[in-house]
Amino acid sequence: MDIAQLNSLSYEDFVDVLGNVVERCPLVAAAVWSGRPFASVSELEGRIHQFLDSLPESGKDGVLRCHPDLAGRELRSGTLTAESQAEQRQAGMAALAADELSRLARLNAQYKRRFGFPFVVCARLHDAAAVMRLLAARLGAERAAERERALGEVKRICGLRLIKSHLLPVCP
Ligand code: GUN
Repeated sequence: MDIAQLNSLSYEDFVDVLGNVVERCPLVAAAVWSGRPFASVSELEGRIHQFLDSLPESGKDGVLRCHPDLAGRELRSGTLTAESQAEQRQAGMAALAADELSRLARLNAQYKRRFGFPFVVCARLHDAAAVMRLLAARLGAERAAERERALGEVKRICGLRLIKSHLLPVCP
């Protein structure tokens, strides 16, 4: 789908197509729809970033809380969104050994207790060892900085989801 087709979509169809570019946050697509027409998909991506940046702290925390735990219960029960399922599989989250799984569950819980939102990282860009390393390292971060860092990961996930759905061209 090109930008002209995206611009011509009804609100309902636009949210259908773009509703999960930010995990379980169709509000993001709903909010940027009124910014049409977009000159390019990159401009649309920029509007999504602006919208995320404009949220108050509680809104940013809410966006982060919509993300499932990496290698969490929903991966095992098969109830993840298709996008999250594919990303988590690519990062090796479905193939962890029992000891790695319990270490990750412990770290996820510790992280959530500290920050009040789950650990979010662009899973497509990391393997399981890197996910563990980053999670352990970010546990020591300061809350406001960690919120912004996590939101940066949401933007990276969003960019890759736009590419995957053939909306954004792959950069050379
Ligand atoms: N990174 C890519 N997708 C996801 C996800 O669904 N949840 C979390 N926590 N991180 C991700």
